Amino acid sequence: MGVRSLLTGVGAYLPAEIVDNDTLARRVDTSDAWITERTGIRQRHIAAAHETAAFMGTEAARAALADAGVGAEAVDGIILATATPDQAFPATALRVQAALGIRQGFGFDVSAACAGFVYALSVADAMIQAGQAKGVLVIGSEVYSRILNWADRGTCVLFGDGAGAVFLQASPAGAAEGRGVLSTHLHADGTLGDILYVDGAVGQPDKPGHLVMNGREVFRHAVTRLAEAVEEALAANQLTAEAIDWLVPHQANLRIIDAMGRKLGLGRDKVVITVDRHANTSAASVPLALAEAWRDGRIRRGDLVLLEALGGGLAWGSALVRM
Ligand code: UT7
Repeated sequence: MGVRSLLTGVGAYLPAEIVDNDTLARRVDTSDAWITERTGIRQRHIAAAHETAAFMGTEAARAALADAGVGAEAVDGIILATATPDQAFPATALRVQAALGIRQGFGFDVSAACAGFVYALSVADAMIQAGQAKGVLVIGSEVYSRILNWADRGTCVLFGDGAGAVFLQASPAGAAEGRGVLSTHLHADGTLGDILYVDGAVGQPDKPGHLVMNGREVFRHAVTRLAEAVEEALAANQLTAEAIDWLVPHQANLRIIDAMGRKLGLGRDKVVITVDRHANTSAASVPLALAEAWRDGRIRRGDLVLLEALGGGLAWGSALVRM
């Protein structure tokens, strides 16, 4: 067996400001009871002016490198997933590269909304397996607070800001031990682009650039598509659900997360849940959840971890990782 991409470091960053449901209920016609019952969300972190995708991504990347016990010289690529970049260009990944004092290697952003981290992980893993890179930072960093319509109670209560990162390293030893990224599966259906989108960007100056969602439709697709993605990942590895130690799902809605847990026969004690405190941080949600459970010792070296996410595009996918 050749080389595998080992997750040698995991890191996270959350803005200091926390906004709870009661605070939102003073701004729009909603209530803590509605938000909690329908989504499981109790609070979210909201970025201050200086907490951009690049700033938060840099902090999460620093934490991932420290966790891996390596310096910036070990990084020969940065792939950053975001729908809320600091600028149209340079890529946010390159702002992170500069902030980390790195001048070698490559960097680019991935745009796949909430599935962005799984997409970025898949690309990084493929590059490592192809021998194009040995150490790749994979980051999800988002400031959705800046693209929300704060007058739309149907969306503004659902999202939060933050960043998560992993350091992936080429490892022949990991391959021998059966550790590392075992598989990734990516999917998209662009014909569903109008059920979750941002209604503008720098290319459309007359549009405000606010998130728009048909929540019920997205919910319906999320439950079906993610269930398929999870089955696909298990089948590709000739595994059954009992083999999974931890499910680290995209954190959009506790009801979707519970449906996935039920599907796999995993109780909440085997599912990492952060949606109650982070809300939906899009591309940052999976690495933020992974970082929390890795740091507090729930997820350990050798554990089999299933990551999955779905979002605007629609784009979705899964990754099966032996830590
Ligand atoms: O990360 C990308 C993936 N995103 C997702 O996976 C999100 C998927 N969708 C969802 O999580 C859920 O569909 C929502 C949480 C967005 C909505 O929950 P729902 O159970 O599907 O509610 P609904 O959209 O069917 O709305 C039910 C009612 C409506 O009132 P009527 O029409 O029944 O009178 C809404 O107007 O709840 C109303 N409503 C609210 N009420 C209080 C919608 N938002 C709010 C609110 N507070 N914030």
